[in-house]
Amino acid sequence: MDFNAKSIVITGAGAGIGRKTALEMASRGGTLTVGDIDLSKAEAVAGEINGAGGSAIATQADVREYGQVEAMVDAAVSAFGQVDVLVNNAGTGIPKPFVLTDPAEWNFDIGICLFGVMNGCRAVLPHMVERGAGRIVNICSDAGRVGEPNLAAYSAAKAGVVGFTKAIAKEVARSNVLVNCVCFSTIRTELMVGLFEANPDVEAKMIKRYPMRRLGEMEEAANTVMLMCSDYVTFVTGQVLSCNGGYAMVD
Ligand SMILES: NC(=O)c1ccc[n+]([C@@H]2O[C@H](COP(=O)([O-])OP(=O)(O)OC[C@H]3O[C@@H](n4cnc5c(N)ncnc54)[C@H](O)[C@@H]3O)[C@@H](O)[C@H]2O)c1
Repeated sequence: MDFNAKSIVITGAGAGIGRKTALEMASRGGTLTVGDIDLSKAEAVAGEINGAGGSAIATQADVREYGQVEAMVDAAVSAFGQVDVLVNNAGTGIPKPFVLTDPAEWNFDIGICLFGVMNGCRAVLPHMVERGAGRIVNICSDAGRVGEPNLAAYSAAKAGVVGFTKAIAKEVARSNVLVNCVCFSTIRTELMVGLFEANPDVEAKMIKRYPMRRLGEMEEAANTVMLMCSDYVTFVTGQVLSCNGGYAMVD
């Protein structure tokens, strides 16, 4: 897989799966616009890429704020002339039983996970449609396919992303813009590994729910995202692919 001369924008790319995907795509020739709510994290990732001989810029963008997302896309077009690929990766959820949550917490999860994806698509689609080419991968979760207790608003937001992806995939397919979802189950990001180190029982319990009897690695998550952004995939749109070790098997 190579991304030579491809301009790629990734949201929430300052850590975890987004960071890993940015580094992997850059090492395969892509030019990266690294977005994150935390500019210092985005700058660190862009610095890593540029230090290794790649090409990247950092932008501060809270995906809940349409103006900031639009500015991120504009920065990518100014720096690299176009946007070939957008990965709407930023996402998080507040883990709590639903009956203990309040509307502000639902707004938080839905704001990042669903409106963040809609903001990214709204900002980049006119550009991609005009060029008659583009790839969008919306990062989802198995929580949105089968539901995850204590993550109800997050599950709702991620399920919303699936419906939204299918709708816009139909709207822009004739312009050769492909829009798909990649879902994850638990991936061993820096954050998750920190949690498991503090509570070793938690990982052991989780693993029992996985047919492959292990959790996912960030490289595996990044590889799946890259596949859906790559030139190997040319006739696939509006689809949902889970990278999950068999955790949920959904038709
Ligand atoms: N790690 C998992 O086990 C897992 C499982 C299922 C789905 N996912 C999904 O994968 C994606 C990446 O998750 P991760 O675990 O790598 O995340 P992470 O928490 O490790 O990193 C998220 C990054 O996003 C940034 N961010 C947070 N809020 C933001 C906002 N409003 N706007 C822009 N950036 C913001 C953070 O600063 C951070 O750099 C998310 O959409 C998440 O829902 C992850």
